[in-house]
Amino acid sequence: MYRSVLRPLLFRLDAEQAHEVAMWGLSLLDAAPGVAKVLRRRAIPERTSLRMHVAGLDFPNPVGVAAGLDKNAEAIVGLFALGFGAVEVGTVTPRPQPGNDKPRAFRLKEHEALINRFGFNNEGMQAMAGRLRELEWRPAPVGVNIGKNKDTPLEAAVEDYVKCADALSSLADYVVVNLSSPNTPGLRQLQEPEALAKLLHEVRRHVVGRPLFLKIAPDLGDEAIDAVVDVARDCGSDGLICTNTTLTRPVDHALAKEAGGLSGRPLFARSTEVVRRAFQRAGGALPIIGVGGIFDGEDAWKKICAGASLVQVYSGFIYQGPPMVKDILDVLETKVSEAGLASLSQAVGRDA
Ligand SMILES: Cc1cc2nc3c(=O)[nH]c(=O)nc-3n(C[C@H](O)[C@H](O)[C@H](O)COP(=O)(O)O)c2cc1C
Repeated sequence: MYRSVLRPLLFRLDAEQAHEVAMWGLSLLDAAPGVAKVLRRRAIPERTSLRMHVAGLDFPNPVGVAAGLDKNAEAIVGLFALGFGAVEVGTVTPRPQPGNDKPRAFRLKEHEALINRFGFNNEGMQAMAGRLRELEWRPAPVGVNIGKNKDTPLEAAVEDYVKCADALSSLADYVVVNLSSPNTPGLRQLQEPEALAKLLHEVRRHVVGRPLFLKIAPDLGDEAIDAVVDVARDCGSDGLICTNTTLTRPVDHALAKEAGGLSGRPLFARSTEVVRRAFQRAGGALPIIGVGGIFDGEDAWKKICAGASLVQVYSGFIYQGPPMVKDILDVLETKVSEAGLASLSQAVGRDA
């Protein structure tokens, strides 16, 4: 139904309009939590072998929504209705901001990829806090991904992250420091060890009683990944999210010249390598959420075997639609039983 009817309709719109329509549709379920609960039960039958316990949190299944899909926490109920094992909202900044000029999102259909340069368009932390306060149904963890305003100088970035942490961490199940968007000038420089240590140290003090994750870019070299892993561990981070979108263009396409971060199928290989490297460096001691180019259960299984304890999807969801969650879970369940494992958690890092 999605691929044959809905997707062709949505893909007639430009990428951002299609996104707005889809999010509006999902947000309607906010007013009907009873319906959402029934839909979720139908979407994903209970699968005990796929439950994950990560950073002190229980995830009913390992497939989460990646940040950027629900930037303002407007469609959490609708996304849970589809069966996701977690929903990460944001990136949110202290003050509302419009983001970059349109058009700022492009589909590279032939490659099942997207390029975006949204630039953290969002309604700000207070609007998000209001919505999270009203959220009554949480069948799985809700993460909040935080960032800095575009006009905040890099030297003052820590203050933005601290403001968001103060306003939102008590309303979230986990918090993500996003230093890896390519669309906020200079942001990725904060992944350098000295700046990173200062920032994580400070934010850690403000995220009380919640796991703190750090989301990193796929464009870091191997040594830089090692350094990030070391700093993240030393500064009390509870895990890494690998990875955000890439500035590289491993595809040949007329739209490849558009500025912004590339996601989807062409990102899979590099983002999986980053998962593997980070897992090896941390010796498995730092849980990893693997994201980048996951389209099906085989992809998810590869990420998990490379070292991811959980996975997230964005572009794959745009191309595959809602059935994707159940399809991935079906394959993972089969993989677990074929490998003779008692649970998916035993597969984490088995190829690393
Ligand atoms: C349109 C779009 C907007 C995004 N916005 C954010 C964001 O606000 N914060 C963030 O941390 N990641 C953002 N991302 C990155 C995704 O969360 C994810 O890390 C990346 O797209 C790789 O996963 P995928 O290949 O499954 O899309 C965005 C991605 C896309 C495609």
